[in-house]
Amino acid sequence: MEVILADYLGFCYGVKRAVTIAQENASADGTASTLGPIIHNPQVVERLKTEGVGTVDTLAEMDRGTVIIRSHGVGPDIYEEAEKRGLNLVDATCPHVKKAQLSAKKLADEGYKVVIIGEKKHPEVRSIFEWSDGKATIVETEEEADALESSAKLGVVCQTTFSGDRFKSIVNHLLEKSRDIHIQRTICTATDQRQKAALDLAAKVDMMLVIGGRNSANTTRLAQICAEKCLTYHIETAEELQDEWFDKIEKIGITAGASTPDWIIKEVYKKCQNR
Ligand code: F3S
Repeated sequence: MEVILADYLGFCYGVKRAVTIAQENASADGTASTLGPIIHNPQVVERLKTEGVGTVDTLAEMDRGTVIIRSHGVGPDIYEEAEKRGLNLVDATCPHVKKAQLSAKKLADEGYKVVIIGEKKHPEVRSIFEWSDGKATIVETEEEADALESSAKLGVVCQTTFSGDRFKSIVNHLLEKSRDIHIQRTICTATDQRQKAALDLAAKVDMMLVIGGRNSANTTRLAQICAEKCLTYHIETAEELQDEWFDKIEKIGITAGASTPDWIIKEVYKKCQNR
């Protein structure tokens, strides 16, 4: 049986950086926490807990210690609240997300009507919205772009993990809405790279294993893409592999979402090779 790893898979730069920053700020007395789970991967969150980094849902749960901001980022109010509470804030916001946040702020300060292209409920999009001083409009579809009122000055930023093709299509609809339109293509290549590599590999194998949290949007998307090409299973850990999946399978492809750590990928890879 041949087992092939996708050319790009697993932790992206921003997630790897955030997990490392969290580990560097671990505390044995339980006073270091990330605001929200650091990434959408329960195994990583659990491991960090044993290393001395917990999770809080709001700053109201902390009266001392270190709060670590995850790669998705947060709005400016959280920085202020952490300061008021006397907390040590460690910022692990991905630099690509930071760029989108600061672009939204700059455009809003310069009098542009800000449009964020992205998923309304995504924490990163919420954080970019906060940096626009709560003034941006979030647009997720071409129809929503069409429904927008025209503006003298329009500034556009994008969720870093949004699809490049969809961004282009929505921007085309926005072009009619202003004569002065400033577009910041704040898309990160990590998502596109992983999707393209998964698609290429899925076309060459009999079965794809997509590893990552079931609550991870980017892993679920990878599984959907692969399922269009071949038999595909979305798993969180190596324990979920089932013998009957491997009947009559000669080539297996493996990919993993941007929030899946190397150690889980290695476990799955080894288990497949030992069949
Ligand atoms: Fe950053 Fe891109 Fe990952 S924006 S968190 S490197 S997907």
